[in-house]
Amino acid sequence: VSNYENILTESHDKVGLITLNRPKALNALSSDLFHEVNDALKKFDDDSSIGAIVITGNERVFSAGADIKEMADKTFSKSYVTNFLGHWGEINNIKKPVIAAVNGFALGGGCELAMSCDIIYAGETAKFGQPEIKLGLIPGAGGTQRLTRVVGKSKAMEMVLSGRTFTALEAEQWGLVSKVFPVGEVLEKSIELGQELAGFSQPVIQAAKESVNAAYELSLREGCRFERRIFQALFSLNDSKEGRIAFEQKREPKWTHD
Ligand code: CAA
Repeated sequence: VSNYENILTESHDKVGLITLNRPKALNALSSDLFHEVNDALKKFDDDSSIGAIVITGNERVFSAGADIKEMADKTFSKSYVTNFLGHWGEINNIKKPVIAAVNGFALGGGCELAMSCDIIYAGETAKFGQPEIKLGLIPGAGGTQRLTRVVGKSKAMEMVLSGRTFTALEAEQWGLVSKVFPVGEVLEKSIELGQELAGFSQPVIQAAKESVNAAYELSLREGCRFERRIFQALFSLNDSKEGRIAFEQKREPKWTHD
């Protein structure tokens, strides 16, 4: 359907699937690849037949991070003026739930891309890490920020300062990963979760995502105020009326997404 060179896109009954597809470079996130991911995310976000998005790689590698070869001739002035990696932030504007289905390596920018998703499901052999220190760099797409908020200072420092990799089970214990599955089941379980989320009212799912994300930006007091205002506003939706009526009538609700 699309002319992408570095990714594949398909839909699975209300779920948009984006597969990183530069296997020879271990799905290194070149600028071209990331622009394609952004484009595909935006198209799925704008498509009313899609209710959730899954990003995956292959069974060996989710992504080995930013494209190191592309960074070979980078200078401070060039990367500053062009705001190198600035476009990686566009995923944060996606309104629908985005699930990362991670198998194999999720390193550097690959780990950061996974952490930019709303939920991470991982295969038993997945390995997470921020190895930039070994390249004389630091993470540049949220690795020092998102990771620290999720796993706390000591573990984030250990990951970022040592560049060591960590297993899926460790990542699950720390709360970085939501669930771990056998390698062959991760994608299927991620799509199933996406379908479950896509089965709810789209404006309500969007409000729930926006509200959870506010926890990262606001104080507890402001966050709870934001949540309560959105909660109150949802009473104006037909879907929230339908939800309550269906509960009383002991039947499944029929969402009209308005
Ligand atoms: N960028 C560009 N190419 C990469 C790459 C990357 N991040 N990672 C791997 N490749 C390429 C290799 O150069 C190699 O290409 P050739 O066949 O042309 O030589 C091919 O992918 C296969 O890689 P390996 O031979 O190294 O495979 P391996 O199985 O021996 O090792 C690995 C796998 C441990 C993941 C290793 O490839 C590796 O350490 N990769 C780099 C990981 C890394 O440092 N990521 C951080 C990047 S910086 C960053 O992401 C900044 C940021 O915060 C945004």
